[in-house]
Amino acid sequence: MAYKNIIVDIEDNVCLIRLDRPDAMNALNLDLLRELGKALGEAQQNDKVRACVITGSEKAFAAGADIKMMSEKSFVDVFTEDLFTPEEQAIRRIRKPIIAAVSGYALGGGCELAMMADFIIAGDNAKFGQPEVNLGVMPGMGGSARLTKLVGRAKAMDMALTGRMMDAEEAERAGLVSRVVPAKKLVEEALAAARKIAEKGAISVMAIKEAVNRADEMPLAEALLFERRLFHALFATEDQKEGMTAFIDKREPQFRDR
Ligand code: HXC
Repeated sequence: MAYKNIIVDIEDNVCLIRLDRPDAMNALNLDLLRELGKALGEAQQNDKVRACVITGSEKAFAAGADIKMMSEKSFVDVFTEDLFTPEEQAIRRIRKPIIAAVSGYALGGGCELAMMADFIIAGDNAKFGQPEVNLGVMPGMGGSARLTKLVGRAKAMDMALTGRMMDAEEAERAGLVSRVVPAKKLVEEALAAARKIAEKGAISVMAIKEAVNRADEMPLAEALLFERRLFHALFATEDQKEGMTAFIDKREPQFRDR
């Protein structure tokens, strides 16, 4: 499938998706977001894909939703078309793990897209921000809701109210990113992490993603119960027998996703 705003490569069981609107700092218009949702949907269906990486260019992961696309829209327009809702849902419904590899700017919708991934690996040149306040609006795809869960109220308020950017080091300290690597090695490191996940059993991987994401949305007692029941359920899989037997036999497990 040929895309206009993204480049998709599948290798070693990993689907690498590069956002590719270089003239607009990878600003997220609907075409790009729809292509991204489609590519991820195809990755979900493709048995060869076991993990995905979304990245941008060295200069910009994505500098936000496309301001030129939004500037003339009215409330009735965005409310009626439910701007960005189907596009966000297309990403959220992916059950395979998604890593965001962020180099350069991840602003507004770009930061929000990165937060929709399961975790973020940042280049040491990454800059995160929610500058929508400068445009007379506010975050609309998780930059207040999801960001608050990830970095806490103080930093979320600071970032969304002042519109300031956080560098990679601060983002790691705040818990927004899982690790910081040299910008030149970013994609390589993210692909290595994805390949590491691709070696695991797909059922445990999917269950872990589901449990961690649900934990964000449920009260602790419910989240613990959900986790425990999924943990119990994995004892119905051959991969559990294989993983535990391989440990005892001191050999590498051969997971078969069943
Ligand atoms: C449309 C954008 C854009 C954006 C950059 N460009 N960001 N176009 N939407 N979000 C375009 C510029 O207009 C310019 O096009 C080209 O990309 C290069 O950008 P420059 O500004 O010339 O580059 P630079 O001086 O290096 O500054 C980089 C930057 C700045 C700091 C990232 O571009 C910037 O502040 N961008 C806007 C960031 C922002 O406000 N994001 C939030 C968007 S609202 P031309 O044609 O002039 O060369 C949002 C809402 C989310 O995300 C809520 C729901 C999803």
